Amino acid sequence: MAAVEIRPGIFWVGVNDRVTDLFEGQWPLPHGVSYNSYLVVGEKAALIDSVKAAFAEELLGNIAQVMDPARIDFLVVNHMEPDHSGALPVLRRVVPHAPILAAAPALPMLARFYGITGGVRAVPDGAALDLGGKRLSFHPIPFVHWPETMATYEATEKVLFPCDAFGSFGALEGALFDDEADLALYEPEAVRYFANIVGMHTKPVLRAIEVLAALEIAVIAPSHGLVWRNDPSRIVDLYARLSRMEGERAVTVVYGSMYDHTRRMADAVACGVTAAGLPVKVVDAARVHPSFVLAEAWLRRGLVLGSPTYDTGIFPAVEHALRLIARKRLANRVVGLFGSAGWQGGAVRKMAEEVAELGWELVDKLEFKGAPVREDLAAGEELGRRVAERVKA
Ligand SMILES: Cc1cc2nc3c(=O)[nH]c(=O)nc-3n(C[C@H](O)[C@H](O)[C@H](O)COP(=O)(O)O)c2cc1C
Ligand SMILES: [Fe+2]
Ligand SMILES: [Fe+2]
Repeated sequence: MAAVEIRPGIFWVGVNDRVTDLFEGQWPLPHGVSYNSYLVVGEKAALIDSVKAAFAEELLGNIAQVMDPARIDFLVVNHMEPDHSGALPVLRRVVPHAPILAAAPALPMLARFYGITGGVRAVPDGAALDLGGKRLSFHPIPFVHWPETMATYEATEKVLFPCDAFGSFGALEGALFDDEADLALYEPEAVRYFANIVGMHTKPVLRAIEVLAALEIAVIAPSHGLVWRNDPSRIVDLYARLSRMEGERAVTVVYGSMYDHTRRMADAVACGVTAAGLPVKVVDAARVHPSFVLAEAWLRRGLVLGSPTYDTGIFPAVEHALRLIARKRLANRVVGLFGSAGWQGGAVRKMAEEVAELGWELVDKLEFKGAPVREDLAAGEELGRRVAERVKA
């Protein structure tokens, strides 16, 4: 994608990544991802964030559409994760004179990641930088996503560059702005990005939203995904809602099954939820990557987990999904559990132990032997209904 002027003197110069299969080496990218870098041009010019190392040449090409990259005056590093800092060694060679501006915790990282020690300035909270006609200020938002993360704000055009905050998976599909793009494609990817990347840091996200509310914001220009100029509050509200972890009044059923015994029960549970009047989503944990399972669980207040007993424990795909959900510290779920067993069982008991540890509310659990008979299925339907009623309450 070519450079785009998002406001007078402020340019998107980022790149689309449609070739990386796994973000951070683990999260699938079926729709790609963008690394958004921005050039703010007053009498002096500042580049805000960069891109993954492999895309450095493309970044330079985009900058060159606006100005000679060698004439950039400042490099602003909002975040040291290499999806945004990877091009710094190349930029350092192109503009050796330009100071790197970052929050203090970024300095040791610059040294350790790239051997960059000289020409680096730690910017204190609220520090301002006059570019002549453009005015930047720097606002730490620690742990959205790393300790050194900060947001940069341009005051004359009221543009906020919050880096990972308000970002989304999904490459830019010929449209950069929220009023041009298909939000039906982006918002599920924003939810998955949130849950997988910043989900563990919900308190810092809420704190960042509070701190940044003091700024008058016309445009939100994050480092992944769309630039929000039409309705910036839409993405802020989504992040706030997800951070509060209340969940929609709906139920996610996550199950695994070897010979359909547990799967048949999953369907019965889902029917019970529907009978109680709530929407339900059924997910096969062995066929859906945990990254997506996590996002589905994050969306809905009700969560029912189904697992056959496998080698005395939880079916591995279900265990993997549950482990990820626990690692990301998803709270406030109303839970039901079910599973089939051949002999002494154990999967449901082990899931119940995990649920207790997470502090989730366990509404009910049931373990049955082999294939579910009619009474088992009726009990499963009842389980779905009870979880749904609890979600509604
Ligand atoms: C590889 C394998 C390991 C199993 N390990 C256990 C076990 O440790 N304890 C048990 O009670 N049942 C065990 N079972 C039996 C299953 O839990 C039982 O057949 C169940 O009905 C399978 O449900 P599903 O069709 O939903 O996978 C095992 C089955 C398989 C295929
Ligand atoms: Fe990050
Ligand atoms: Fe990022």
